[in-house]
Amino acid sequence: MLTFATVGTSQITEVFADAVSRVPEVRIGTAYSRHAVRAAAFAEKIGAPASASDWAGLLANAAVDAIYVASPNRVHASQAAQALAAGKHVLVEKPAVTEVADWDELVALSKRHGVVLLEAIRNRFDPGLAKVRELLPEVGTLRRLTLRYEKRSSRYDQVLAGETPNIFNPELGGGALRDLGIYCISALIALVGEPESVVAASVPLRTGADGLGTLLASYPGFLADLHYSKITSPDQPSVIQGEDGTLVIDAIDAPRTLTLTRSGAASSTITIAGPANPMESEVHRFAALVAGGDTADADQAATRAALGLIATAS
Ligand SMILES: NC(=O)c1ccc[n+]([C@@H]2O[C@H](COP(=O)([O-])OP(=O)(O)OC[C@H]3O[C@@H](n4cnc5c(N)ncnc54)[C@H](OP(=O)(O)O)[C@@H]3O)[C@@H](O)[C@H]2O)c1
Repeated sequence: MLTFATVGTSQITEVFADAVSRVPEVRIGTAYSRHAVRAAAFAEKIGAPASASDWAGLLANAAVDAIYVASPNRVHASQAAQALAAGKHVLVEKPAVTEVADWDELVALSKRHGVVLLEAIRNRFDPGLAKVRELLPEVGTLRRLTLRYEKRSSRYDQVLAGETPNIFNPELGGGALRDLGIYCISALIALVGEPESVVAASVPLRTGADGLGTLLASYPGFLADLHYSKITSPDQPSVIQGEDGTLVIDAIDAPRTLTLTRSGAASSTITIAGPANPMESEVHRFAALVAGGDTADADQAATRAALGLIATAS
């Protein structure tokens, strides 16, 4: 049984705990918080048998095999590095780190210590994105991908009230590109690989973080425009256009309804039965990597490519 300790006590760790409960070969042994009382309360909330607030003690605990890192983005690199150096497998939330060089260091550390390092970027492992990839040839010669993830954050109200919540704090790696744009970037790389060139523009908020932005990527023969926002709603579908047809995707972070229209033919709708919890697929992938039989090289390369695009667009 692969035993996780969780880092971070926000809602995403609750969702992760639920995903873990659906994967038989994995469990959560310890919930970590910087504050002991919060750690204990959170452990009870997610059904973890133990809690911890001593970071060094957690990393020295032989009963912990893996660490799930769900702290603010800028904190990931140091926590992941320490966990890997302690011989723990690491599943780190998206974006894995804020600098490409930090990712290279983490990958090197994971190899040196013989442990798994994986970014928890949901859609890379999602069956819906696999289906989009499979249907891509149906649109004919590819000409344009318009990928969108735009969702007004409830925490934007705090920004309007003069506060700086973590997710809108550039010091902690917050902002629309890193929080939501990354799903568009991850899908882009999974579908068509890295572009030849990129330009981007964004609208900065009072906090200094980007509230929304657009990235334009050029490929031989086609373009990709990516739109991400934490200050506007509702989300619009993503659209892939080719010379022979169009594929409309309901949600790029977890595609569930695809509409394919081929020139001169009626549209067809493809429904994808995804997992009950959208984080389940990444937990399966992580468990499989720890079990051996495959390497994380391709996943890590995709993360590196995404981080590179984020750096160019920032
Ligand atoms: N995969 C998804 O669908 C998804 C969804 C949402 C978020 N995320 C990712 O999950 C991560 C956490 O996001 P979030 O919005 O939940 O963050 P958050 O609420 O700002 O922080 C998460 C946790 O980290 C700890 N923390 C807060 N500030 C910290 C600091 N300065 N140093 C160290 N620890 C700190 C806190 O736990 P304690 O105070 O208890 O230690 C907090 O509960 C981000 O990387 C985000 O991109 C992923």
